[in-house]
Amino acid sequence: MNQSFDIEKITVETFSPAVARRIIEIAYNEYPEQLDRLQQRHILQWVIGENHELVVVKPITANEKENNSPIIGFIHLSLHEGKMWFSMAIERKYQRRGIGTALLNYAKQKTNELHGWIIPDDSLKKPDGTPYYSPKKFYLKNGFELTDNFMPLRGKRIVVQEIVWRKPSP
Ligand SMILES: CC(C)(COP(=O)(O)OP(=O)(O)OC[C@H]1O[C@@H](n2cnc3c(N)ncnc32)[C@H](O)[C@@H]1OP(=O)(O)O)[C@@H](O)C(=O)NCCC(=O)NCCS
Repeated sequence: MNQSFDIEKITVETFSPAVARRIIEIAYNEYPEQLDRLQQRHILQWVIGENHELVVVKPITANEKENNSPIIGFIHLSLHEGKMWFSMAIERKYQRRGIGTALLNYAKQKTNELHGWIIPDDSLKKPDGTPYYSPKKFYLKNGFELTDNFMPLRGKRIVVQEIVWRKPSP
């Protein structure tokens, strides 16, 4: 199917509880069940915090515009101690259409280095019982390196691994 997408930055003016609910829903559906639901107040900080940026993707077709919840993916960027971190997720039915890559390309234009955490384990499940596939290959394909930095998430049976992308020297 041929469909175009809009990438839109969410600001204080364009933020609403519906936007927060949609981000929470996408993250909840697409991350492993062991991760907590993102809290609405947490997302509000993404929008009002100076060092944060929330970017969402919306389909452009007329049909999708009639939908109340047109956001189908997001990337959150945050600057912490000089490092740019990101997290992202795309709704299942829109995965593997280049949207994740487009969001990473947006982030790559803003920085020389991008850091993130991935779940390297392929044996986890999403809340609906379907398998969670580690996005390791997706990030390798997008120029990221896997680091030796592993971190167990407190109180959970999950270990995350830091990944990094560095802008190639000209
Ligand atoms: C990982 C994710 C952000 C990728 O976004 P996307 O829009 O599906 O990715 P793209 O279409 O740009 O690229 C897909 C390519 O990456 C590769 N890939 C490898 N592992 C993948 C995976 N787990 N999911 C999607 N693509 C994967 C494939 O080569 C795929 O190309 P193909 O379909 O031709 O084989 C998205 O699948 C997602 O939200 N997954 C669930 C939540 C998650 O893991 N988020 C990342 C947390 S760090």
